[in-house]
Amino acid sequence: MFNRCWFIAVCLAAFVQCQDIFIVANGTATTSTCATRTSSPSNDNSYSQWEYKHTTTVRYVTPLAYQTPRSTYAAAYSEVSTLLPANISTTTWGSWLPGQTAVSANDTKNPYGDAAWQQLWVNANLTNYTTIGLYSTTLAPHPVPTNELIAPPPNYFGPEDCYELPDDFIYGASAAAGQIEGAIGLEGRSPSILERFITNGTGDNSNYVANENYFLYKQDIARMAAAGMKWYSFSISWSRILPFAKANTPVNKQAIDHYNDVIDTILEFGMQPIVTIQHFDSPYVFVDEQYPDASYQSRASNPGTIIPPMAIQNKTGIWRFNGGFSHPEWLESYVYYSKIVLTQYADRVPVWITINSPFNWGNTPTGLTNSIKGHAEAYRFYKDELKGTGRMGIKIGIAFPVPKDPLDQTHVDAAQRYRDLYMGVLADPIMLGKQYPTAYTDTIQNVTLLTDAELARINGTADFFGINEYSAQITSPPAGGVAACVADPSNPLWPFCTVQETVSSTTGWALGYYAGNSAMSAPQLAIRTCLNYLWSRYKLPIVISEFGFPEVGEAAKGLAAQRFDQSRSEYYMTYLSEMLKAMYEDGVQVIGALAWAYCDNWEFGTWTTPFGMQTLNRTTQQRTYKKSFFDYVNFFESRMPSSASGLESGSGPLGPPVGGNNTGGGPAGDGP
Ligand SMILES: *[C@@H]1O[C@H](CO)[C@@H](O)[C@H](O)[C@H]1NC(C)=O
Ligand SMILES: *[C@@H]1O[C@H](CO)[C@@H](O)[C@H](O)[C@H]1NC(C)=O
Ligand SMILES: *[C@@H]1O[C@H](CO)[C@@H](O)[C@H](O)[C@H]1NC(C)=O
Ligand SMILES: *[C@@H]1O[C@H](CO)[C@@H](O)[C@H](O)[C@H]1NC(C)=O
Ligand SMILES: *[C@@H]1O[C@H](CO)[C@@H](O)[C@H](O)[C@H]1NC(C)=O
Ligand SMILES: *[C@@H]1O[C@H](CO)[C@@H](O)[C@H](O)[C@H]1NC(C)=O
Ligand SMILES: *[C@@H]1O[C@H](CO)[C@@H](O)[C@H](O)[C@H]1NC(C)=O
Ligand SMILES: *[C@@H]1O[C@H](CO)[C@@H](O)[C@H](O)[C@H]1NC(C)=O
Ligand SMILES: *[C@@H]1O[C@H](CO)[C@@H](O)[C@H](O)[C@H]1NC(C)=O
Ligand SMILES: *[C@@H]1O[C@H](CO)[C@@H](O)[C@H](O)[C@H]1NC(C)=O
Ligand SMILES: *[C@@H]1O[C@H](CO)[C@@H](O)[C@H](O)[C@H]1NC(C)=O
Repeated sequence: MFNRCWFIAVCLAAFVQCQDIFIVANGTATTSTCATRTSSPSNDNSYSQWEYKHTTTVRYVTPLAYQTPRSTYAAAYSEVSTLLPANISTTTWGSWLPGQTAVSANDTKNPYGDAAWQQLWVNANLTNYTTIGLYSTTLAPHPVPTNELIAPPPNYFGPEDCYELPDDFIYGASAAAGQIEGAIGLEGRSPSILERFITNGTGDNSNYVANENYFLYKQDIARMAAAGMKWYSFSISWSRILPFAKANTPVNKQAIDHYNDVIDTILEFGMQPIVTIQHFDSPYVFVDEQYPDASYQSRASNPGTIIPPMAIQNKTGIWRFNGGFSHPEWLESYVYYSKIVLTQYADRVPVWITINSPFNWGNTPTGLTNSIKGHAEAYRFYKDELKGTGRMGIKIGIAFPVPKDPLDQTHVDAAQRYRDLYMGVLADPIMLGKQYPTAYTDTIQNVTLLTDAELARINGTADFFGINEYSAQITSPPAGGVAACVADPSNPLWPFCTVQETVSSTTGWALGYYAGNSAMSAPQLAIRTCLNYLWSRYKLPIVISEFGFPEVGEAAKGLAAQRFDQSRSEYYMTYLSEMLKAMYEDGVQVIGALAWAYCDNWEFGTWTTPFGMQTLNRTTQQRTYKKSFFDYVNFFESRMPSSASGLESGSGPLGPPVGGNNTGGGPAGDGP
């Protein structure tokens, strides 16, 4: 028997929940756009004179307008530093280089001295790692050659909507410190959990050079601005700002200076910064103190999947991973850290994100509670004490679950259960002031409920819902039912107790174009259905804070093929088209979209299946725009109000764009 089954997600903003309507149809799919059809080709034997008429457009993209009026969003550090503890010291440390194995400094009596700092690296015990790349000092930016700014050939098929976006719509590209900076042991940074737990499968020999963005950020920003990217979403490294991580410990001057310059450079190039305070790279000291025997994980069997060290899995017992969030001092330390960065940088940063997707790395009950409270305290400090006027939110990641059979209530319930456990557990308290979902408290024993006073303080501490949304999943209950699974923590599906699929066992079809990490392109479900759900439940403006596409095997292709990343372009065009439908046809308020990522980067040890809109040559650190970069920017630019013609372009910090060819040579000439 052969059925063609189509999921059609019909979401009406008025509905509390989306309704997935399951339609079974037989026969040929017809196009709805042709009122009448032309019946025969016009081969009338006229044999006109042939001439070559092909038109080629070489379109140069428009760089960002520079010197846009600067706004301020809080008082400068000199005025608000009084909000911090009076005795904070700001100092510098040295560097920890590959090959070092022992403490060499002799200031052992100073709890925050060089010897204590080196001991943090000894404890992390990174053997045979690489972190020194081509650079040891910040590279000055240089103009992007005009021949790099030629737009790719226009798409044959594309969106045909006629929507105009608000001119303050946030469109940008994103990255995170741990995945791009490199320089992991340089200029005072202490280890994070990423270097300690993620290796490339060999158990050692990990390469942490990444994109050397710690030294190349000026050029990265110049390249984004030159190709018209408006916003840059990056994260600050906690263990760089505070090598000892904890409350009241000294601040790293070199780190403060570094991020000051990152933000100033972004503004100088006419872009706007979005800053994430903590993105996965928890300081290692928290985990080290709780689980000193935590072993390296292996990625060899399943690159792209984060497998927590067994020692940690065992000790937390309940959820998968504790990336330091459940340490008894984590909460006050996070609050202290966020106050440091907010007082330093809030004057210039319009949009803040407190924590990136804490569920992924802090999903013990204590870790979740701490991240919710840490987020809320950062928000309260920003709004109430610092009087910040920008916007602050949190990023929550999920691959949106939809019922396998929308006509079966147990499937609908399973999808909601997954949403509650993965997303509601964070979003319900923060955005609704509601207690943890019952799916969570009924499954996990001994969850400490949030008190009414805590909920009142947590409630409403987000100006927007940041959703990291790459893909969707088909959800159904386990064979024995949800209840039996919930009662049996040894069930491999526990605690979610739902079955997640990306290939439908009803139709045999994958949800969409197959990407790496099982993150297939599923625009209607991942975006339109998801956005409708978020809007109807949380009633907050939404930022699609990450979305992106990892093409399998892309890194193995030649440069020209890597650059012509049509699958990624189509991913962005379709996802953004579904975003527009949610906005203009369903009434969902979406205020921004941030592509992951501005460049190929260190995806937790993996480089073969990258997400970037630029390639990265890891030998030369050369960046090269891919097609998707231009298509992405053009999607927004072409839908901006026509008043945008007032842009002054082409003369910025580096002067007008220069002609010339990027030879791909070393940085002394053309640079990365
Ligand atoms: C479609 O075809 C299947 C298999 O022949 C049949 O069982 C089903 O009734 C048909 N459905 C419709 C809507 O015509
Ligand atoms: C400590 O080390 C520094 C150089 O690292 C050296 O100059 C100094 O003499 C040492 N002090 C002691 C007491 O060993
Ligand atoms: C450091 O790592 C190496 C290699 O993984 C291991 O053999 C050694 O026991 C570790 N040392 C400590 C103190 O954990
Ligand atoms: C580190 O590299 C050295 C030299 O290549 C090698 O002898 C040693 O076994 C490596 N250590 C580990 C833990 O793999
Ligand atoms: C891990 O890195 C080492 C050293 O760079 C390399 O030889 C090895 O092939 C890598 N292994 C995997 C699985 O990527
Ligand atoms: C600052 O004061 C606090 C509280 O009195 C103390 O715990 C902390 O160690 C001090 N910090 C520094 C850097 O001296
Ligand atoms: C706990 O660790 C032991 C080995 O130390 C392992 O055999 C066991 O599978 C682990 N249990 C869980 C639930 O991870
Ligand atoms: C959370 O705050 C909102 C807005 O202030 C309010 O409408 C809502 O009732 C609060 N929720 C709870 C559970 O108190
Ligand atoms: C929950 O608390 C009870 C009573 O303190 C205890 O016996 C039980 O082991 C706890 N369960 C878990 C999963 O921690
Ligand atoms: C990276 O750069 C090196 C050195 O210029 C070059 O040999 C190599 O082909 C480049 N890789 C790609 C994929 O372009
Ligand atoms: C760029 O390269 C082309 C082809 O190699 C060459 O003809 C042209 O002169 C170069 N332009 C510049 C400005 O170097």
